[in-house]
Amino acid sequence: MSKELIIDGVNMVSLAKATGTPVMVFSQTEMENKLAAFKKHLVSDKFETQVLYAGKAFTCPAMLELVKAAGCGLDTVSGGEVDIAFRANFPMEKIFFHGNNKTPFEIHQALLSGVGTFVIDSEIELENVIAIANETGMSTQAVIRINPHISAHTHKYDVTADRDSKFGISIDKPEVMLGMIEKINACGKLVFKGFHAHIGSQIFDKGAFVTEIDTMVGLMADLEKQGVKIPWLDIGGGFAATYTEDDAPIPVPEVCETIITAAESAVERYGVSLEKLFIEPGRSIVAEAGITLYTIGGFKNTYSKKYIFIDGGMSDNIRPALYQAKYNCDVANRMDEEKCDVVTVAGKCCESGDVIIEDIAVQEAEVGDVLAVYTTGAYGYSMASNYNRIGRPPVVFVKDGSARCVIRRETYADMAILECSEQLDV
Ligand SMILES: Cc1ncc(COP(=O)(O)O)c(C=O)c1O
Repeated sequence: MSKELIIDGVNMVSLAKATGTPVMVFSQTEMENKLAAFKKHLVSDKFETQVLYAGKAFTCPAMLELVKAAGCGLDTVSGGEVDIAFRANFPMEKIFFHGNNKTPFEIHQALLSGVGTFVIDSEIELENVIAIANETGMSTQAVIRINPHISAHTHKYDVTADRDSKFGISIDKPEVMLGMIEKINACGKLVFKGFHAHIGSQIFDKGAFVTEIDTMVGLMADLEKQGVKIPWLDIGGGFAATYTEDDAPIPVPEVCETIITAAESAVERYGVSLEKLFIEPGRSIVAEAGITLYTIGGFKNTYSKKYIFIDGGMSDNIRPALYQAKYNCDVANRMDEEKCDVVTVAGKCCESGDVIIEDIAVQEAEVGDVLAVYTTGAYGYSMASNYNRIGRPPVVFVKDGSARCVIRRETYADMAILECSEQLDV
């Protein structure tokens, strides 16, 4: 018998048989270790620190349990993410609420559910938050998102801090920031805490974070000279993960050390009094912990390609189509066989662009074999859709030889539940 893929003590071929495919599998141990590593290494004796897990990478109540157990906070970006945290009994005071266009409904909901900190993206949003805080009588803390105009050399869809980015207040507009801080302080319902920036995702370059910290602390120093106290700095996330052998992400201890050293040095040089530093890792916590198992349903040879067809595709992983993301894979039931077949892994969606991996060497497979695509833990399930009316796959956490389904497979009945015929009064 051929060697089979084992993740966190669980045989992936047996798991695929038990759940059916496609299925997304996460090593719980890997996620716990990553959360613990960020927590352990992001420490300073000059200021407090806090790790906020960026839930947009992947979230569900079981994931939030791990985040809570690790003592981390949570970065949310929509009413839906605030809701899932509330229902999972997540400590709401440890939540940051992001987003460049929070709706009045979401602002209401977040205030009423006790979200600890709003990251304010614009002047209009600030007016809305103040109005709704007054209306509901609820209070919260406010951080202003700044666009520091820093390039981190990521894919263009991952760039969040170029001059024309939709996010935040341009660093060139201190007068706008000062006006916003004045309004926050005057309104009586919000407490101004500081600044946030996020310079992109899948960042390999330590220097980008150093530049970001230096730029942000420099800004804090400029504004402090005008009598404003800025206790918090949140530098966002963006730490890279390994998708293929070409990727060399900065190890967690090293990236944390870089951040702490840069922040301590900048605080000293600029003479600012930073009380608390936040980071928001998402991808780096869940990406490598996740794999997707598919069943191979067929092959096709074209003029220059050999396709392997899998029973999922862009509906469970849009990243190759959206970002030209690259992945690695194995035939999970042939782990000890030579990777001598060059194939293109195509999904079942009705799009030519539904290709998960282009021209990759894998073990020679047969129909019915299980294909494991690695590093699918971040922005896979959370970006999954029902395109072509395909249900989203189940999610299974594995740990020390045992497996636990934490999101079940989406059925036709689940999809049908939204259908209706309701007369509208317009
Ligand atoms: C504001 C903010 N914080 C954190 C993150 C998480 O980034 P990553 O998953 O690359 O760590 C993102 C992702 O886009 C973000 O927009």
